Parts: sequence; structure tokens; C-alpha cells
Amino acid sequence: MAPPALEGSATAGAPDGRSTPCRIAVLASGRGSNLQALLDAIAGGRLHATVCGVFSDRTDAPALARARAAGIPATALSPRAFADRAAFDAALFERVDASRPDLIVCAGYMRLLGADVVAPRSARMINVHPSLLPAFKGLHTHRQALAAGVTEHGASIHFVTADLDGGPVAAQAVVPVHAGDDEAMLAARVLVREHPLLVATVELLASGRLALECDGIVYDGARLQAPLQLPANNRFA
Ligand code: GRF
Repeated sequence: MAPPALEGSATAGAPDGRSTPCRIAVLASGRGSNLQALLDAIAGGRLHATVCGVFSDRTDAPALARARAAGIPATALSPRAFADRAAFDAALFERVDASRPDLIVCAGYMRLLGADVVAPRSARMINVHPSLLPAFKGLHTHRQALAAGVTEHGASIHFVTADLDGGPVAAQAVVPVHAGDDEAMLAARVLVREHPLLVATVELLASGRLALECDGIVYDGARLQAPLQLPANNRFA
């Protein structure tokens, strides 16, 4: 599948000559701080994109309020209103598709997605996960990291496949684990790096520099051998 490359040749808006902002659909179940990081980067001219819709499985998700405050269409569907997961997924993605996204970002979307909706969209759907994948998949990643006694932890951006938190990892940000850390302290340290990691990775995808192709992730025309590591200045080379 083609990367979410952008059309246009005029120079307005983007440093590399792109004119059409990447359309991003965001899926979120909760707080929405990653959504906010994208919105702030767009507003600050650091990300040449537009959020075309925010979608949730929770009608009370604070992410929806953040979207509405920014004038972005926000849609929530309750899974209880559907016969099964497949029916819910189909209804949700009918709405996501209607927003015409180039890229779909799962940013704290806490519901499993079925292969029927994931497979056709894998190359343009990413997830932000608070661990250095493949370590600590699933929930309570900071608790898992502390229990394992690791000295480094962090966040990953991966392409979404039907394998939970198991899709190809594009980029990571590493943080140290300090003696005496509790779950909340570690989570806060990761989140500070997770936000710029998401913004910088989305910018690479939006510009077409980073893409999932049939034989793996390609970065600047070469096969990526290991996930990109976010530098201290929060910008990929
Ligand atoms: C983040 O830590 C993300 O990595 C995880 O869920 C959390 C969502 O945070 N998948 P927010 O809703 O973006 O604030």
C-alpha cells in the first residue's frame, strides 16, 4: 500500500514544498494528551497536517472535548449498541473512512481492533504504545517494566496489525528508570517523550519519508533495520 504521501507542488505551508496537509484521523478512548500534542504541533507550525476527525469508543472520553474545543468533528460510538466487535469496528471505520484520512493514529485507543478493519489499513495506521516494544505489550506497561527491573523504558510508535502491539515498530523514545520510581513517576517521564515521538513520527509519515511497504519499513528510501530512536532535540535527522 502506498504511504500517506501528499499531493501538490506549491511551497505554501511545508518546508519541503508540500502544500496539502496530511489528513489525520485520531482514535482515542481517554485523556487525549497525545491528540493534544498533535493539535499543538499543527497549531505551532511544527506538523504539516490537519486532524480530520476524532473517534472514540467512549462517549465520555476527554479526548472528544479536546477535539471539539479545536473545532474538529468528534464521534463516539458505544460498543454496547452493536451485536459484536466486528459490527462495532465496521461502523466505527465507516465513519473514520468518511473523514478521508491519509493516516489513522491510535492514540490511547483501548479497544482491540479486528483483522477485518486493520488489514486493509495497516500501512496507514499507527499506534503509540508506552513501552519499548517488543517488551511489555498490553496494559500496565510501567508496572511491568518496574517488576522486570529494567533500567530503560520508553514509548514506541508501531504500525497496527491484528497482532496486539505486535506490528512493525517505526520509532522509539527511551527514558531511564530511576531507583525509587513508582508507576506514576515512570509514566510521567515516558509521556514527556511520547508526545514529541508521536509528532516527529507523524511528520515523517506525512512527508512520505517513512512508510510501511510489503517487505518492511522504509526510511528515506532504505529498509529500516531497527526502530528510529528519537534524539534529545525531538527531531529525526
Ligand atoms: C498513552 O500512554 C499511550 O501510550 C497509551 O495510552 C495512553 C494514552 O494517553 N496507549 P492519552 O489519552 O493520549 O493522554
